[in-house]
Amino acid sequence: MSCIPNWEQEWTLPYYLILLGFSCICICVLSDSSIWVPQAEIDAAVKLLLKLKVDYKQMTGQDYKAGCPPSENSIAPDNGPAADGADEDTVDPWNVATTNAKGVDYDKLIVRFGSNKIDQELVDRIEKVAGQTPHRFLRRGIFFSHRDMHQVLDAYEKNKSFYLYTGRGPSSEAMHVGHLIPFIFTKWLQDVFDIPLVIQLTDDEKYLWKDLTLEDCHRFAVENAKDIIACGFDVNKTFIFSDLDYMGSSPEFYRNVVKIQKHVTYNQVKGIFGFTDSDCIGKISFPAIQAAPSFSNSFPQIFGSRKDIQCLIPCAIDQDPYFRMTRDVAPRIGYPKPALLHSTFFPALQGAQTKMSASDANSSIFLTDTPKQIKNKVNKHAFSGGKDTVEEHRKYGGNPDVDVSFMYLTFFLEDDEQLEKIKQDYASGALLTGELKKMLIETLQPMITQHQERRKQVTDETVKQFMTPRPLNFKL
Ligand SMILES: *[C@@H]1O[C@H](CO)[C@@H](O)[C@H](O)[C@H]1NC(C)=O
Ligand SMILES: *[C@@H]1O[C@H](CO)[C@@H](O)[C@H](O)[C@H]1NC(C)=O
Ligand SMILES: *[C@@H]1O[C@H](CO)[C@@H](O)[C@H](O)[C@H]1NC(C)=O
Repeated sequence: MSCIPNWEQEWTLPYYLILLGFSCICICVLSDSSIWVPQAEIDAAVKLLLKLKVDYKQMTGQDYKAGCPPSENSIAPDNGPAADGADEDTVDPWNVATTNAKGVDYDKLIVRFGSNKIDQELVDRIEKVAGQTPHRFLRRGIFFSHRDMHQVLDAYEKNKSFYLYTGRGPSSEAMHVGHLIPFIFTKWLQDVFDIPLVIQLTDDEKYLWKDLTLEDCHRFAVENAKDIIACGFDVNKTFIFSDLDYMGSSPEFYRNVVKIQKHVTYNQVKGIFGFTDSDCIGKISFPAIQAAPSFSNSFPQIFGSRKDIQCLIPCAIDQDPYFRMTRDVAPRIGYPKPALLHSTFFPALQGAQTKMSASDANSSIFLTDTPKQIKNKVNKHAFSGGKDTVEEHRKYGGNPDVDVSFMYLTFFLEDDEQLEKIKQDYASGALLTGELKKMLIETLQPMITQHQERRKQVTDETVKQFMTPRPLNFKL
């Protein structure tokens, strides 16, 4: 039996139901082989295997690796109550849901997605290779998972450089602080490794998925580019592009899109992204467009005809399905697989059960909020891990693990010692919820004001510079 690498389809392929007389016989296609087994038995076996894989990881600290390990991406999740009573988290590019106030269980996600944990050893190694204190997102496990980062560092140590690729789906003009996480981190990577960066704005995707006009999607892309530029990217090392513009102007980019399209079947994208027969064909072929920037010859103005330059993608973990697909296709079309760094989700003000929503102004702190709005939102809407009364809080202490103000501070407060002290004091009851919220407000207000000032400096001319295909300054 030959395995399809990385698609990990052993358990996922379609079940064909055939009714024969009064009985229902199910054929389950397992990779290339077909076996005849009743559905209930298949489900039970799948559940058992999933559990064994989790147990293996817990016992050994390592991912179970077989010739073609199973994917849990497209499998019906095990909905039975877990030991801690938490249901399975939902994580895909369009939905993030958990019932746990602490947020998504990221260790479980690493096992499910088959990625690797960013452990202390890797953080230390990045520090050594970069020669810089690791970014607080690395120190605090906000970027928590990776694929092939050691390989990127091995090559870098041998003077073989790489480039960065990240992106944003411009669904509205309004961006919130959570949207900045990949960009803040990518800027740090660009600075410490001194490498080129491409940023994809998927205005085409937003048109396909949302009830928006093409003109609006493109306009949102340009407006979002201003907020992205305000993060401080080096214009001589950064290319920002709208798919609607770049696809039509770069034959090399489109050639890669077509190569990818030829090597992914409908069954595969259906398994990964959950497309149905009623999804428009634009959605079905879109993953190839998000995959193409992972290959250096999609940008001949930057890399010439070189197709061997390693790509590193910092992104939120919900984008991983696109890049699992990309990594599967890459060797089959003669390209290196992109490496990845995954971040956790940024929680909504109302609690870590979901990620923020750009459509609910009260769910997040927006980059356009005034200091007064920030203060009101945090005070009125930030979910608190504190007790109901001051007396109880002083006596029993608060719970920083579910407190959204504390979570936000872990993203934005630079000082490790101060953060640790806040955590201890909150847990002991020495620090009250109002005082904790005040600290968050005083952290966010100057941060957002400074962002707004930098954004004001970004002229249409600056945007045009960043978004014009051109050579970039770098040494490889
Ligand atoms: C990498 O480049 C540096 C500076 O140019 C040089 O000193 C070093 O020997 C090179 N290392 C390797 C492994 O080629
Ligand atoms: C970009 O390159 C130009 C031309 O070499 C130079 O004048 C400019 O200072 C550079 N900008 C930055 C931000 O380094
Ligand atoms: C947001 O919160 C404010 C104050 O708490 C409230 O007046 C407003 O209606 C809320 N907006 C939405 C969209 O829920």
